[in-house]
Amino acid sequence: KTVAIVGCPFSGGQHRVGVDEGPIHLVNAGLTNQLTELGWNVQFDGHHQFEEISAASDPPIGKLRNPRLVSKVTEAVAKTVGAYAKKGQLPVTLGGDHSLALGTISGTLSAHPDACVFWIDAHADINTAETTDSGNIHGMPVSFLLGLGPKFAEFAWVKPALKTSRIVYIGLRDIDAGEKRILKENNIKAFSMHEVDKYGIGKVVEMALDHVNPNRNLPIHLSFDVDALDPSVAPSTGTPVRGGLTFREGHYICEALHETGLLVALDLMEVNPSLADAASVKQTVAVGCSLVRAALGETLL
Ligand code: ARG
Ligand code: MN
Ligand code: MN
Ligand code: MN
Repeated sequence: KTVAIVGCPFSGGQHRVGVDEGPIHLVNAGLTNQLTELGWNVQFDGHHQFEEISAASDPPIGKLRNPRLVSKVTEAVAKTVGAYAKKGQLPVTLGGDHSLALGTISGTLSAHPDACVFWIDAHADINTAETTDSGNIHGMPVSFLLGLGPKFAEFAWVKPALKTSRIVYIGLRDIDAGEKRILKENNIKAFSMHEVDKYGIGKVVEMALDHVNPNRNLPIHLSFDVDALDPSVAPSTGTPVRGGLTFREGHYICEALHETGLLVALDLMEVNPSLADAASVKQTVAVGCSLVRAALGETLL
């Protein structure tokens, strides 16, 4: 069993500096060795080197900010992740901002067209170019993957390969009005923090699996935004929202998806080591490594 670490020092899907340093900190904290100790062959040949596009040559298209850059980078990530997945390796993509999931999930679906997606996040990241207030593409990757909203020549490479029935959310608590409408209109299954409180995380993961993977036979892509965790657990992130998952709830999701034996790809996104004090950064990076280990088989006993 081989995991391929795809380090993506990229921040163009949002406007705060520093999130590009996330993958560097996660690797420097010893993540590759930790996975080796869990029994994995770990492939890591350095962080992705992305083509640069100057801001001057990448003006907004409609409300989309850095559209050409985000498109180029996520297309490259899709190819990389897709190639690893086709070789039977498990790509672990370290962000970087969550626009990268446009690439990772496209890559997964190119290798496993029937894969389902677990999106763990405070946010739904399902704005379209019409509904977005911020213009930040990290708030939009899901709509692109589903083929919702206006189309752009610059994103012609994106295939709307994800079906609305194949994605499920856990942890939501900061959803824009337009996103609420999109979730409702498309009948997309979402477990907000309200449902986590009401049913408990064990039941929520089971219900989520029943929805996207009723026969427990489809490959699973787990896209984990570290801001799904409560800011007291993971403070160093660009868009923290109070009332999030506890340390254990976050880990439980990873452990339970590992137990299915169906995990084919993992993203850990939005660790921003330039936000908050040194102790908070260290804590956030450590939690990030620990979530990845849990998804790759670390157990408590
Ligand atoms: N909904 C807001 C937006 O569209 C926030 C998105 C935050 N996304 C994230 N990946 N942290 O800008
Ligand atoms: Mn640094
Ligand atoms: Mn988020
Ligand atoms: Mn996100």
